[in-house]
Amino acid sequence: MKKLGEEGYTWTEAHIDPWIEDPKALLPDSPMALAFQGIPDADERANIIAYLKTQK
Ligand code: HEM
Repeated sequence: MKKLGEEGYTWTEAHIDPWIEDPKALLPDSPMALAFQGIPDADERANIIAYLKTQK
């Protein structure tokens, strides 16, 4: 994941949603996927993303 950042990867809303839904579906061996199983509830994810958008 850090490696992606160093390669210039930019996190957008469209990327965060599937990532927090199921991190291991995107990067099975990332530390986050190992530690965090994800949030299946779409409303809950939408609330988290709405909060993150207030933190610019
Ligand atoms: C739901 C809220 C969360 C969001 C939006 C989120 C988002 C992210 C993002 C965007 C990254 C990548 C950062 C980068 O580009 O370097 C990341 C990495 C990471 N996250 Fe989360 N995360 C969340 C919850 C969690 C939880 C609950 C844990 C642990 C239990 C966790 C553990 C980690 C770890 C260990 C990394 C580093 C992974 C790596 O560098 O490969 N995250 N997270």
